[in-house]
Amino acid sequence: MVTLNEHEKASRSTETIVVHDAQDDRHYGAVAMPIYQNSVFTFPTQQSFEEAMLDNRDHFMYTRGNNPSVRQLEERLARLEGGEQARCFASGMAAISTAVISLVRSGDHIICVDQAYGPAKDLMTSILTRFGVETTYVNGASFERIAEAVKPNTKLLYLESPTSMRFELQDLPRCAELAKQIGAYTVIDNTWASPIYQNPLQLGIDLVVHSVTKYIGGHSDLVGGVIIGSKQLLHKINGCELVLLGGIMQPSTAAQVMRGLRTLPLRMEKLQQNGLAVARFLETEASVAKVNHPGLPSHPQHELFNRQMKGGGSLFSVELAVTVDQARTWADSLEYFRKGFSWGGYESLLYMPIQSPDTEAGENVLIRLYIGLEDPEDIIRNMRDAFARIAKK
Ligand SMILES: Cc1ncc(COP(=O)(O)O)c(C=O)c1O
Repeated sequence: MVTLNEHEKASRSTETIVVHDAQDDRHYGAVAMPIYQNSVFTFPTQQSFEEAMLDNRDHFMYTRGNNPSVRQLEERLARLEGGEQARCFASGMAAISTAVISLVRSGDHIICVDQAYGPAKDLMTSILTRFGVETTYVNGASFERIAEAVKPNTKLLYLESPTSMRFELQDLPRCAELAKQIGAYTVIDNTWASPIYQNPLQLGIDLVVHSVTKYIGGHSDLVGGVIIGSKQLLHKINGCELVLLGGIMQPSTAAQVMRGLRTLPLRMEKLQQNGLAVARFLETEASVAKVNHPGLPSHPQHELFNRQMKGGGSLFSVELAVTVDQARTWADSLEYFRKGFSWGGYESLLYMPIQSPDTEAGENVLIRLYIGLEDPEDIIRNMRDAFARIAKK
């Protein structure tokens, strides 16, 4: 592998980290590293094979353990998050389940933010309970609720800040401090901010996970995940959960992610601007009861946002004071928004959860918007027309 010189190690600029690859003579000066699309790596002699087997966490022997293309991406992501090591996975959920399973055992207790990504909570409720691990879900916007939920057997605080439907933050330094006091670990899903706008390891969090599928990949054409943290915690994952659960990232996916990563700082800057422009516009509309975006001064945790984050993503939610039918008409009038679950690509997306039959008349309708790289003025013009349309109904 390429080893970094002192100048490269010292470089903290994200723009430089994502684009600069040191010259590597083993690849004929190729600008993009060729993809090592191999399951197995072989050795010329029995002795060199035995030496590698004795140190199999670091050698390239079999792609379920280590692969050079994946390793290159892992090193890049670790540097961006300010972590010692990173390991990539086949999906964000594979990264989340591997991280959580690596830190708990039967009899342990987890405190999880109640607005965390649904499948992460399902992992705790549907699988971990079968192995004797119990979870308490708390309102993460209140540090007091988190502290009150601590039990003598609490081993993990599972955080997602901000959460990706209501956009509530947790006070990360306080959560990290609490976990240290009680001998528990902290894991955070940092997908919304990306490594560009929030670096939780520097705030004392133990492990960061991302769905690489979103901003890092950035083009809605792949699924992947990553865990980033200290060498000590990753060492255990490398030797156990990574190879035994086996949810690894493919080398070809790693090369694709690397390509997206080159423009991550540029995309994030533009997406942040576009997201805020549309969010600010929505605040001026009569049919909008609330805009949930922590980058807006109206957000109840805006001060915490400024304190622990450098910026934000372009995913937020809006609460419309309209009927469900009007909300559907509004959504379908938006020319630039396809309807779908994901986010983080170049294209705007809208997700309106299915309304439960017992939704009370007069209740606001919650819609999640992902603002892509289209011109925000086009989006705003179109949204304004869509509001005018439902006002006439
Ligand atoms: C906040 C968040 N975390 C994790 C995930 C899971 O990622 P993946 O779909 O890559 O498994 C998602 C997916 O939508 C997400 O929105």
